[in-house]
Amino acid sequence: MGKMRTQVGIVGAGPAGLFLAHLLHLTGIEAVIVEAKSRRYVEERIRAGVLEQGVRDLLVETGIGERMKLEGLLHHGINLRFGGEKRRIDFSDLADGQAVTVYSQHEVVKDLVAARIGAGGTIIFEAEDVRADGFEGQHPVIRFTAGGERHELFCDYIAGCDGSHGICRSSIPEGALTSFERVYPFAWLGILARAAPASEELIYAQHERGFALLSMRSPTISRLYVQVDPHEDLANWPDDRIWEELQIRLGGGTGWQLTEGPVLQKGITAMRSFVTEPMQYGRLFLAGDAAHIVPPTGAKGMNLAIADVRVLARALQSFYETGRTDRLEAYSATCLRRIWKVQRFSWWMTSMLHHFPEHTPFDHRRQLAELDYVTSSRVGGATLAENYVGLPFDDP
Ligand code: APR
Ligand code: PHB
Repeated sequence: MGKMRTQVGIVGAGPAGLFLAHLLHLTGIEAVIVEAKSRRYVEERIRAGVLEQGVRDLLVETGIGERMKLEGLLHHGINLRFGGEKRRIDFSDLADGQAVTVYSQHEVVKDLVAARIGAGGTIIFEAEDVRADGFEGQHPVIRFTAGGERHELFCDYIAGCDGSHGICRSSIPEGALTSFERVYPFAWLGILARAAPASEELIYAQHERGFALLSMRSPTISRLYVQVDPHEDLANWPDDRIWEELQIRLGGGTGWQLTEGPVLQKGITAMRSFVTEPMQYGRLFLAGDAAHIVPPTGAKGMNLAIADVRVLARALQSFYETGRTDRLEAYSATCLRRIWKVQRFSWWMTSMLHHFPEHTPFDHRRQLAELDYVTSSRVGGATLAENYVGLPFDDP
């Protein structure tokens, strides 16, 4: 049995775990990451792709923004399509010149893994049977199997960054956490296609057949989504049917046509909103998807994960530099203030843009009026823009 020791033991090498390790390293705190999947798997996993202004700035300030600055696409607005019209929300005007950056989550992950390994950091990939123990007391330990051998990683604190199906949250005694959840009666069928994006900026479409989204990963790769039934079988969606539905919902044939191309990947994602409170139990801190899930409509999942670990890294820095634990004790409350605002925004965008089975013609008219309002009133547009580019980090 191998015994190891570090200051902060991190479970999960997604954006939350990797960025936490990076921030800790910059302040001289040692961390080890234990990850269930392979390096290749985490570096190729297709996920989100929109970075808030503050997250972009943070990546640049902490020295890992070089490739993002070159390859990321700066977007100064988004389009909302409804009632046969396309209208733009202009961030330059409505959000003080801030912008979002379209840059894939797996590219952020690649940059972070390279930075960790380049700095001599330890990431243990393909760990099996991972367990978090001892965090109720003074001696947290992460136990796992790697290379056929059982290991123990002793640490001062454990960061549970292991996503929504991880083991950290479920290792907290039942009754210590309260969960809040909303499950939506639809899912997104997403494709990645070798096709030049037919619009420079994202198009979020509200349509009576259901929501659709045009997004992109690069000047030659489109990322597109259509709202489908949550129990839908991918087999019912051959590529032709997906393109046809995307064309209808995004307004193809009205003097504009969606560019089609080979489908490289497709999948169906369920939609839910979820928060667990508090995000801490003893010496175990939850961050990112391990603590909360947002529906993808606001493009907030990765941004929220980064915001959590920024707070956690600062709290740990305060502890290691001064011995003070007040910031660690405030971690959950500090994060939850932002999380609930982002939950509200993601729920609101989802509600405004999707077709709900229970909707009446009244609800449909109300949705159209809301879209008309946010695209015609400065104040209405500003509330969308401010949230989309990202609320300021306002913790002390
Ligand atoms: N032991 C070790 N690692 C684990 C375990 C386990 N038992 N279970 C899961 N993991 C790993 C996963 O393989 C994954 O690499 O934890 C990592 C969690 O990463 P993410 O799911 O990417 O979560 P997070 O880092 O919080 O980032 C949130 O990811 O799901 C997207 O849309 C979401 O963009 C958001 C972002
Ligand atoms: C994406 O590009 O994958 C994407 C963009 C915006 C969203 C959700 C997903 O709101």
